[in-house]
Amino acid sequence: MLRDYPLLHDDIALGLRGRDLVSVQDLSVEEIYRIFHIASVLKSDTRSGVPHRVLEGKSLGMIFKKHSTRTRVSFEVGIWQLGGHGLFLSADDIQMSRGESISDTAEVLSRYLDGIMIRTYSHDEVVQLAESASVPVINGLTDLLHPCQALADLFTAFEKKGNLSGLKLAFIGDGNNVANSLLVAGAKLGVNVSVASPPGYEPQSFIVDRVMSYAAESGSRIEIIHDPVEAAKDADIVYTDVWASMGHELERVQREKSFAGYQVNGELMAVAKPDALVMHCLPAHRGEEITAEVIDGPNSVVLDEAENRLHVQKAVMVLLML
Ligand code: CP
Ligand code: NVA
Repeated sequence: MLRDYPLLHDDIALGLRGRDLVSVQDLSVEEIYRIFHIASVLKSDTRSGVPHRVLEGKSLGMIFKKHSTRTRVSFEVGIWQLGGHGLFLSADDIQMSRGESISDTAEVLSRYLDGIMIRTYSHDEVVQLAESASVPVINGLTDLLHPCQALADLFTAFEKKGNLSGLKLAFIGDGNNVANSLLVAGAKLGVNVSVASPPGYEPQSFIVDRVMSYAAESGSRIEIIHDPVEAAKDADIVYTDVWASMGHELERVQREKSFAGYQVNGELMAVAKPDALVMHCLPAHRGEEITAEVIDGPNSVVLDEAENRLHVQKAVMVLLML
């Protein structure tokens, strides 16, 4: 017998049904906390073996133009645990890579599927797919954003710290897709976000402008600076990501030079709060953006973040695809 989940049927849940998740920007604060709430119920049901096949008979197509370990496995296992079916669609194998338009792909897939997850380079491709598809489209990472990651990360911080408002998150390194989504989600939820990047690698200014307007509403403080020590000072969360993201392979050598002073190591952690959480979306390069001592140390919650991708994305799928 399936348990009833009343929080899947009220006005907030109904307001999410059928929608896309292209950016955390699309979500209100109430909706983000609803995702967290459902994620935590589903996490405890998963751990105690309570069946929760609320998406019985539904299918999720998962289009991948870039590599993935966590996103692919957590979405595929997640939809299966919910009673549905996931289809891995390598972009190389479907007709999209031979020139079939995004809109035809979206409309055709909408006749078979109940939801589409896509990981690709161009953010516009996801926007276009979402506009043309009649089923929910979930962004599984673009060059610009990684909303599922930021939601899972802030859910992890919420679990560990008990609240988010007023926490300081220091993001050290590239102002990339992960940094952008953490800025958007953090500013909405009242987290003070301090990003320290080398000059020329700051988060895009149009994202920062939007983030400032969310911060004005939530009261969070946002800083885009160059000094990692200043960013990490008294931080509750110290976050980093690779210096060369997927698509930046040719810039790797130059980036190693530019980011040399931006490593999260014991010395940098010494200026953060003693109980600061160490976060990384993974995959990590030990010895580059983070030392082994820190990522494998007692403050690291990187495996919890990875696990929470599963629970948070299950909540997202349930809320959008029910
Ligand atoms: N963090 C993350 O999205 O990991 P994958 O690239 O393995 O999916
Ligand atoms: N910024 C990284 C995140 C990987 C999950 C990338 O885009 O490669």
